[in-house]
Amino acid sequence: MGLLVASVFALAQSPQVAATPPMGWNSWNHFAEKVSDADVRAAADALVSSGMRDAGYIYVNIDDTWEGQRDANGVIHTNSKFPDMKALADYVHSKGLKLGIYSSPGPKTCAGYEGSYGHEEQDAKTYAAWGIDYLKYDLCSFIKIMKEKTGDEHSKQAFEMQKAAYEKMHKALVATGRPIVFSLCQYGWNDVWKWGPEVGGNLWRTTGDISDHYSRMAEIGFSQAGLSKYAGPGHWNDPDMLEIGNGGMTTEEYRTHMSLWAILAAPLLAGNDLSDMSKDTLEILTNKEVIAVDQDKLGKQGDRVWVEGPKEIWAKPLSGGAEAVGLFNRADSPRTITLQLKKIGFSGNAKLRDLWKHEDVTAKNGSYSVQVPEHGVVMLKVSQ
Ligand code: GLA
Repeated sequence: MGLLVASVFALAQSPQVAATPPMGWNSWNHFAEKVSDADVRAAADALVSSGMRDAGYIYVNIDDTWEGQRDANGVIHTNSKFPDMKALADYVHSKGLKLGIYSSPGPKTCAGYEGSYGHEEQDAKTYAAWGIDYLKYDLCSFIKIMKEKTGDEHSKQAFEMQKAAYEKMHKALVATGRPIVFSLCQYGWNDVWKWGPEVGGNLWRTTGDISDHYSRMAEIGFSQAGLSKYAGPGHWNDPDMLEIGNGGMTTEEYRTHMSLWAILAAPLLAGNDLSDMSKDTLEILTNKEVIAVDQDKLGKQGDRVWVEGPKEIWAKPLSGGAEAVGLFNRADSPRTITLQLKKIGFSGNAKLRDLWKHEDVTAKNGSYSVQVPEHGVVMLKVSQ
């Protein structure tokens, strides 16, 4: 492909992939290094049978540990847990889903498997030939290369190396001619939200890893204040994958997780075992009114509009002039939180809808006061 054609294609490609925050499933949070072909097929089956696919969860993403060895020509192969990646992609596609994969710009992935260092074009071609639709590209051992070459992995030179490494893989993906979502994972180093789009990122992790604990989820989620201006169609902030249903939080805390991620216009990548999920987990993951907030076509990320101790109010502009509002209680006991409608630009006769109760509620004298459970949320849609 000629350079001009390639760059026109790159421009044409960006709004096409990830026009709204990617939704799907990723193997890491539940299966970690144990993930196998059978687990991925089971996840694909469950996305369909549970109704999650029809609610928008399309990507089936294999994280680290699928990688085998390179052959004499340098072509990457899968390990024994994944006997035939092309056949797996065909299976996933036959269900109306898309398949994602994982690699690193370094020689090794974070779990110590084969990375793409020195084989970027070759790997991109292999992924495209398999039918891959999404690549998570995780810095990992490239940090060591940055350090070896510049003496300090936090130096300006190291930063330039890092950007070049991401751009290299982006170009390699574009050159395949297959639309592949490009997910940057470098834990938010060097304010990645400021340059992620420049290197072709459709999304970029803004933090270190999430874990299945309220304290870590809240630490990550609420630290996203101020990042809203960097997100938009085709390029999203990624506060990491969902832990909903993995067992370490209460139902109320998982509702907070889902609400906050939706207000943040974050990718919604379920991280639980989809073939064994409770009614509560499925209800949280498939709340259509909350998903509509995340996927709103305006593509604006929400931000914090008010904070008083453990009480926080976040708001996200929606198409048609409405706002999604999250009233969050981070305290260990219930709190009453009051939303002043004028704070988010609405008059006293605005329409309010509770998106978890699925019912309309009413404001009094220009404000709405409600008791929010510990670590919980009340999520509203406000419109005139
Ligand atoms: C890093 C990433 C995680 C996961 C693991 C896999 O820690 O941040 O999301 O991909 O690597 O090894």
